[in-house]
Amino acid sequence: MSTVISTPGALSPSSTGRLTPWLGVVLVVVLTAGALFGYDQGVISGALPGIKETFSLSLLMVQVVTSWVTLGALLGSLVAGELGDRMGRKRTVLVAAASFTLGAVVQYLAVDTAMLVAGRLIVGAGVGMAAVAAPIYAAELAPASLRGRFVSGYQLAITIGIFLAYLVNGQLSAKGDWRLMLGAAAVPGLALFVVGLLAPESPRWLMLEKRRADAATELRKVEPDVAVDERLTTIEQSLAADAHAATWGELFAKQWRRPLLVALGLAVFQQVTGINAIIYYANQIFAAAGFNTEAARASVTLWAIGGINVAATFIAIAFIDRIGRRKLLLVGLVGMGLSLAVVGVAFRFIATGAAASAAAAAPSTAGIVTVGALVVFITCFAFSLGPVVWTVINEVFPAPLRSRGVALATAVNWGSAWLVSQFFLSLVTAIGSSLTFGLLALLCVVGWLWIYRVVPETKGLTLEKVQELWSSKS
Ligand code: BGC
Repeated sequence: MSTVISTPGALSPSSTGRLTPWLGVVLVVVLTAGALFGYDQGVISGALPGIKETFSLSLLMVQVVTSWVTLGALLGSLVAGELGDRMGRKRTVLVAAASFTLGAVVQYLAVDTAMLVAGRLIVGAGVGMAAVAAPIYAAELAPASLRGRFVSGYQLAITIGIFLAYLVNGQLSAKGDWRLMLGAAAVPGLALFVVGLLAPESPRWLMLEKRRADAATELRKVEPDVAVDERLTTIEQSLAADAHAATWGELFAKQWRRPLLVALGLAVFQQVTGINAIIYYANQIFAAAGFNTEAARASVTLWAIGGINVAATFIAIAFIDRIGRRKLLLVGLVGMGLSLAVVGVAFRFIATGAAASAAAAAPSTAGIVTVGALVVFITCFAFSLGPVVWTVINEVFPAPLRSRGVALATAVNWGSAWLVSQFFLSLVTAIGSSLTFGLLALLCVVGWLWIYRVVPETKGLTLEKVQELWSSKS
């Protein structure tokens, strides 16, 4: 089907970039969608032990229960591009919210493994759809001067979702109450649905549908100070310029190779530098580093990983539209690489396995260094690769390709997350923790060099100007 999406961020000079009440509603939609994504990332580690007990799962089924959310998300993100074009951004968010809520309820009520896995798949589809639709929605409705902050707000919400999941894990995992842990996600799912019903539709999508009057109404809501006619004409012109059908094939056309490369490369580097190895397995890393009680591990995971992740995302929100995307990425990757190298070295001094449990009553110096280094790692990820990658993915594609481009990049991001989380522990077993962290550090170096060469600065540019970057260099 043909895909033509209007161009966001094409501000007329009269726009103030003020956070109006309706923009506030847009922000709530984006934040709730992000929180759902994050909650899902964080909650499974705490829920698994209880699930294993209830259904006496084999190792294979443990992995299926864990990873089929990712599979669902991968599929959800691929269809979200299509849905976003056909039904509009807002209704795609509604479908995502409905799917998330339904999946959470199915998991809560699961009578056997098949039903649980079905619930995981449905939740995953919701997460994947929301992960595509919400940032596009944010990028299309936010004025250019606030765009970076809106999309980083999405990332902030992901981190808050992870933090909340760790908090819930801490409270409920001792009782093994996995139903409540997974079912609780129905509450924000429902909230997203309700707020989504109230939220404005993207004026650009409405213009694409030739609904100028509706577009004017929605535009007036989000930017009351803007010269509506002038702005709608700008949108119309940019639509006319882009008025050709974009197919999946076109996404891979030679002329779009650079934005595609930037988006997919960033999606991959965000994951292969290890963030989710740390998010999912923090508990086990801290156990190896000498945190011997469940309570100690839970609180160090909650605060050193979950809390710091939230706090440091504010740095990105403050600076992404001022310092710019490239600098944040490059500085962040230096910190991530160095801290992973430190963790690698620290693990040389950490006794593992039986020796560790016999030896350590409290974390060793090397254990404490590991925690410190992971705090630095999370901080650096949270002000750089976390938010900046999603921001850039949502601004590099030309309008007709945006929906599909973002969908593909999101699917690749989920695929990479699946690879890392699936193989991290095997890698630790095969080559040891030291070398595994060394390898992740090396990938930060590769990522740094690649970003330095390939990723342009997009700060403060309207999305049309971003497109000029490709024509000037390719
Ligand atoms: C990533 C997630 C990750 C989260 C951590 C996001 O940007 O896409 O995979 O779990 O950041 O805060």
